[in-house]
Amino acid sequence: MSILILGGQGNLGTQLTKILGSDYEVISWDRSDLDVLDFALLSEKLRELRPVLIINAVAYNAVDKCEEASEYALALKMNSELPGVLADLAVELDAVLIHYSSDYVFSGTELKQSFKEEETPNPINKYGDSKASGEREIQRRLESGLKYYLIRTSKLFGPRGTSAQAKPSFFDIMLNLAQDKKELTVVNEELSCFTYTPDLAAATRRLWELEVPYGIYHLVNEEPCTWYEAALELLHLCKIKIPVRAIRSEDIARAARRPKFSVLANTKIKKMRPFRAALKEYLSD
Ligand SMILES: NC(=O)c1ccc[n+]([C@@H]2O[C@H](COP(=O)([O-])OP(=O)(O)OC[C@H]3O[C@@H](n4cnc5c(N)ncnc54)[C@H](OP(=O)(O)O)[C@@H]3O)[C@@H](O)[C@H]2O)c1
Repeated sequence: MSILILGGQGNLGTQLTKILGSDYEVISWDRSDLDVLDFALLSEKLRELRPVLIINAVAYNAVDKCEEASEYALALKMNSELPGVLADLAVELDAVLIHYSSDYVFSGTELKQSFKEEETPNPINKYGDSKASGEREIQRRLESGLKYYLIRTSKLFGPRGTSAQAKPSFFDIMLNLAQDKKELTVVNEELSCFTYTPDLAAATRRLWELEVPYGIYHLVNEEPCTWYEAALELLHLCKIKIPVRAIRSEDIARAARRPKFSVLANTKIKKMRPFRAALKEYLSD
């Protein structure tokens, strides 16, 4: 009875591999094992392995680059076609599929308390569009009996993945900048929830083990905040004294628009702890 994790050396994939690997037979593949966009080879390997659970932690995540046509084509292949292929294989092999999506599937242009699981996506950038398209690919297979958990999450942070390409999180970037600069400028908008990857991996495991009903879930640490508020909390916890200037989203030139309010409400299962507690643990580790 094996569990397959794709993107197993990414930031989230590394935590999933760790938390599930302690009690289950986990096969964790990354780019060096297989190019997941080689759908024929991927299908062949999955049919050989016959996992009971397929976790897809692979994604195209370059939000600004994604606005370019050639990059958007790649994003669609990775964020939309791939989940479709995996969903077909999950049905064929009678496996459960876990796939991750993003708060960026929502427009978030108006002040709104939060987005519930069943609300209709309406993205305002190409990355969000590719993730929303992936959600549709999965939902199209429900009639075929797909067993799935579609997990939306936001603003991941935590230990860096084991891949050489793994990106540092917002908090690591802020700590580095605080060492080099006399002042930090941080966007005091884009309200959403930070999510600690070890917490998300543990919550994912619980979802599957408890066999909660299949469907869409919002898994995020509680207590939404802006990038600026999060940076203040980080500096406070690390006792670093440096001026921080709040700016607006529009003050930095970025190709992609961002939702101003994209808080994901978890209305279905036990809520995760507030992000401040998770950040404290991350810093102490
Ligand atoms: N990061 C966030 O703040 C955020 C927010 C909302 C939702 N999410 C979602 O959460 C999930 C996990 O995100 P993450 O930040 O952990 O991603 P990540 O760190 O970028 O990891 C993605 C993994 O996929 C691998 N990969 C990429 N292309 C591949 C290919 N063609 N063949 C095989 N492997 C390939 C990467 O390998 P390499 O390292 O070799 O490139 C990497 O290990 C994604 O679905 C993402 O959309 C993330």
